[in-house]
Amino acid sequence: MKRLEGKVAIVTGASSGLNRAIAIGYAKEGAKVVIADLRQESNEDGYEVNKDISTDEFIRKNGGEAIYVTCDVSKSAQVKNVVDKAVETFGHLDIIVNGAGITTGFGGLHEVSDEAFDLSMEVNAKGCWNGCKHAIAQFLKQGTGGKVINIASVGGVVGLWGKPAYCASKGAIVNMTRQAAADYAKAGININAICPGAFPTAMTKIGHETPGKYEMTLAAHPIGRWGKVEELVGPAIFLASDESSFVCGVILPVDGGSLAV
Ligand SMILES: NC(=O)c1ccc[n+]([C@@H]2O[C@H](COP(=O)([O-])OP(=O)(O)OC[C@H]3O[C@@H](n4cnc5c(N)ncnc54)[C@H](O)[C@@H]3O)[C@@H](O)[C@H]2O)c1
Repeated sequence: MKRLEGKVAIVTGASSGLNRAIAIGYAKEGAKVVIADLRQESNEDGYEVNKDISTDEFIRKNGGEAIYVTCDVSKSAQVKNVVDKAVETFGHLDIIVNGAGITTGFGGLHEVSDEAFDLSMEVNAKGCWNGCKHAIAQFLKQGTGGKVINIASVGGVVGLWGKPAYCASKGAIVNMTRQAAADYAKAGININAICPGAFPTAMTKIGHETPGKYEMTLAAHPIGRWGKVEELVGPAIFLASDESSFVCGVILPVDGGSLAV
């Protein structure tokens, strides 16, 4: 028996990077997957294998079930539309991964523009809020319980140099997760967050390929290397599966030990 057999999962920001790997991992475990992103194509700057094929097409080519829905997660109505499409297509909803995210507004806090701060909060924090809101409403309507996995960051727990807007928005995700976990635990809805350390994706390409930045990131990871994208998939499957039924409000670092030091 596959671990997510019969489950329906929405993964936001799943055309590229970490969320794409999670979506493909969920499909391999038997879930029907709804890919929600600004664009269907994978980011050309990413390191994904087969990135010339969209995530939904890749899943279908490998025998799974998936659809793509265009969505800007910062817009509540568009996120509601994704939930509606999931239910219309597959009959119900069991899991949402709120993974869409951006990094914007680098430098000291006093240097970051209002626009960069607002964009970080709109996409990262409000995007996660919108996903929680509409998925939880659907879980309550179904009376089935459900799983929410919010993709925060180690930058939601500690400060990362030069990324004030990103850290503010990811910190919001961390405490949103704890608060909502408490409110909905009795309804059988497990709400948890993952805090990735450094993984090579389009988002981190500059850090991964710039000498100096690469070594600085390595030094922050006791394990002595960057993460492999597949290493995020297992924890995300665990939090979506029945195995995590007593896990609520956990902020799970998947970070090679960087939050341990
Ligand atoms: N890569 C890392 O090292 C790392 C570390 C910590 C946290 N994260 C988090 O993991 C998540 C995925 O990041 P990634 O590294 O895979 O980046 P990525 O750039 O490869 O993927 C991000 C995806 O989100 C989508 N997206 C952006 N804005 C959106 C919006 N408004 N609505 C819908 N989709 C949108 C993009 O189109 C893209 O497909 C992000 O939330 C990021 O903050 C990544």
